[in-house]
Amino acid sequence: MPGKIALVAGASSGLGRAVAECLAAAGHRVYAGARSFAQGKEPPKGCQALALDVTDDNSVRAAVGEIISREGRIDVLVCCAATFTMAPLEELPAETLADMMNVNLLGDARCVQAALPRMRTQGGGHIVLFSSLNGLFSIPFQGAYSATKHAIEAYSQALSQETRRFGIRVTVVEPGDCRGGSQRYRLTHIEENSPYGEAFRAGTQKIHHDESHGLPPERVGRAVARAVGKKRPPARLVVASLEQRFGAWLHILLPRGLFNRIMEAYYR
Ligand SMILES: NC(=O)c1ccc[n+]([C@@H]2O[C@H](COP(=O)([O-])OP(=O)(O)OC[C@H]3O[C@@H](n4cnc5c(N)ncnc54)[C@H](OP(=O)(O)O)[C@@H]3O)[C@@H](O)[C@H]2O)c1
Repeated sequence: MPGKIALVAGASSGLGRAVAECLAAAGHRVYAGARSFAQGKEPPKGCQALALDVTDDNSVRAAVGEIISREGRIDVLVCCAATFTMAPLEELPAETLADMMNVNLLGDARCVQAALPRMRTQGGGHIVLFSSLNGLFSIPFQGAYSATKHAIEAYSQALSQETRRFGIRVTVVEPGDCRGGSQRYRLTHIEENSPYGEAFRAGTQKIHHDESHGLPPERVGRAVARAVGKKRPPARLVVASLEQRFGAWLHILLPRGLFNRIMEAYYR
């Protein structure tokens, strides 16, 4: 059915922006939510901007309420808002981990809880949650981010099982490295004279290198738009290079200790 009503949370940059633009280009009516739209940031092409802070219950309820009052329904919710801080886990402040959980997991949960009642009563909907290949396996210095994405994997699986009876479909998206993400959300934390100093610099450089040579964000945007257009959308959507998919297969096939040593060597 063309012309679905969609909200994309975290649509001011990177993959969220690309998803919003691809959904709009596919003929859907797209509301792009993020905090920076309140400060006048240009909305994604073809979309209507909504001020949205996923850490704030009132902001989430107001954004979803506004869509429902304007359109009478909400068919698609895409949750892309995320932040990440790279750090050795020994040194990661608990508040930083809590902040990441608050955006990456609780932010999605707030959006889902705001949209679900309407989706249920209208007889269906499609919820798309952004995990990552890091939702399947972890890499050094990205443990906190990986933990939030592993949480999204568990959350989305149960959500799918609970809401299918209401005609609601859930897709978890697992992108590999993609370029175009904003450096504003790629923070680092390392103590002075940290024993991890050298390994941290090498690991984070590798992570930056892989991301800046990753897939174009439009690849993910188009894949999500195709999934949204389907009568039976996939439960999982992996969008990654062959090399990164290979990493995910190794994680399934190899003994955990061997896989860990390979990852340690790759990021050294
Ligand atoms: N880029 C990759 O290689 C990659 C790989 C795998 C998975 N992913 C996942 O894909 C999604 C997008 O990542 P990205 O790197 O492409 O995007 P990004 O450039 O890092 O953008 C993050 C988005 O989150 C929004 N955001 C942050 N805090 C928010 C809050 N409190 N309320 C509302 N919005 C908030 C930001 O908007 P404002 O600051 O304007 O609010 C921005 O639009 C994330 O879930 C990420 O984990 C990315």
